[in-house]
Amino acid sequence: MDDMELEDIAKALVAPSKGILAADESTGTIKKRLDTINTPSTEETRRDYRELLLSTKGAGDYISGVILYDETIRQKAKDGRQLTDLINGQGIIPGIKVDTGAKPLAFSEGELVTEGLDGLRDRLAEYHKLGARFAKWRAVISIGESAPSQYCIDTNAHALARYAALCQEAGIVPIVEPEVLMDGDHNIDECYAVTETTLKTVFDELYKQRVVLEQMLLKPNMVVSGMSCPEQAGVEEVATKTLYCFEQTVPAAVPGIVFLSGGQSEQKATEHLNAMNQMGTYPWEISYSFGRALQASALAAWQGKKENEEAAQAAFLHRAKLTSAARDGEYSPDME
Ligand code: 13P
Repeated sequence: MDDMELEDIAKALVAPSKGILAADESTGTIKKRLDTINTPSTEETRRDYRELLLSTKGAGDYISGVILYDETIRQKAKDGRQLTDLINGQGIIPGIKVDTGAKPLAFSEGELVTEGLDGLRDRLAEYHKLGARFAKWRAVISIGESAPSQYCIDTNAHALARYAALCQEAGIVPIVEPEVLMDGDHNIDECYAVTETTLKTVFDELYKQRVVLEQMLLKPNMVVSGMSCPEQAGVEEVATKTLYCFEQTVPAAVPGIVFLSGGQSEQKATEHLNAMNQMGTYPWEISYSFGRALQASALAAWQGKKENEEAAQAAFLHRAKLTSAARDGEYSPDME
């Protein structure tokens, strides 16, 4: 993998039938996930859970890359191997979350700006040595009464572009993630408008900061109804509006769009991805970088117990297989 060019890494991450597993939950977020199965969050349980997923036989058929958290990229598997060696052995490319989280944005109550630029050049050099070949930075945009402000979109877009340029300089493919959150009672058209403005601003900044579009991937939200909107848009509408939004905003030079699942159920995220891949050909690959929508069943099957490891791996492999089918436009709900 060492001699791969950034373009080749980006293309490999969105190869046919494959997509990315987001397993980069911060220590706070993974604790919330483990709480749901009454499992304490310790360095060891976190390692056990991630090792379980990544050592699943056949995972490499559906998973091109995995986004890790700082703790995980340094951890060893139970047999003493570095986890990154185990991952590479599965034919999966290791990636790393490099932002340090979304913090309150000054003078804009309720809005957030993602931090992590200080010292990033040095951290990227270290992550490259540890085996990371791609990275992720997540900006969070919420929809509310008077949100988002253009100020919030601008500051987040500026940081995303600074991050992306530093990644490319370090020989790491940046995944640029501006997530418009699903929380709220807004309808799908409000989500469309905010997503469109956000993406226009992000690509403007990427251009100004000389980011090479062929050497990055975009990780966006789908255009969907707010979680508590009484009128939920159907699969066809989500797929049509999402694709139209990206046609308006994402340059053809970008090799792939890898969607986040953002709180959609496993099945809904899969149905949406499938519908988009059935709708025709687009300049970019349309794939996945799911966290919850690839892990929910596996986590529930595991319950933190050694004797459930096999069942959890089977659940993970099944979900990955269905998501991969959707990435190729070949999924149907009867495969569930
Ligand atoms: P979800 O698919 O659970 O939204 O996670 C993807 C991710 O990495 C969010 O940053």
